[in-house]
Amino acid sequence: PGTTSVRVGVLTVSDRCSRGEAEDKSGPNLQNLVKSSTLNVSKVLYECVPDERDEIRRVLLNWSDVEELHLVFTTGGTGFSPRDVTPEVTAEVIERSAPGLSLGMLCGSLKVTPMAMLSRATCGIRKGTVIVNLPGSVKGSQECFQFVLPALPHAIEVLR
Ligand code: MTE
Repeated sequence: PGTTSVRVGVLTVSDRCSRGEAEDKSGPNLQNLVKSSTLNVSKVLYECVPDERDEIRRVLLNWSDVEELHLVFTTGGTGFSPRDVTPEVTAEVIERSAPGLSLGMLCGSLKVTPMAMLSRATCGIRKGTVIVNLPGSVKGSQECFQFVLPALPHAIEVLR
């Protein structure tokens, strides 16, 4: 218990960052949070893709089926704008949903901002990989990461 060497992926979903029009701050921040967390992390993969279903799907499938990561965090594309499709692609690739993770983020986030209601973050499991959608902002993604973190070591332990 607690000795599993955890492999993590951080996927930034952002049109502007993928085109180089904005600097991705949330992805690197999450990588740092993951590395300095209580998770015993051995590897962190990172990619940045536009808000395109095919691109998001390609990374999620590769990271779960080929790389066999334990944990994948997406950041961005969970809101109400027409191009926000991260939760839809996540719902498509997961085999079992994990609504408790989404609810945990919502409950924690509502104490911070009512805007939390605008995140449609979806979470679930594909084979041995837990996929967690986080909002796109540095603040929102960091807060939500910290809300789900306490449950993740046990989640990983029972999945393998
Ligand atoms: N959750 C937390 N904890 N803190 C935040 O600042 N921002 C909200 C929400 N969730 C926020 C949050 C806002 S303003 C939006 S629009 C939605 O997440 C969706 O963000 P996204 O479209 O970048 O994924």
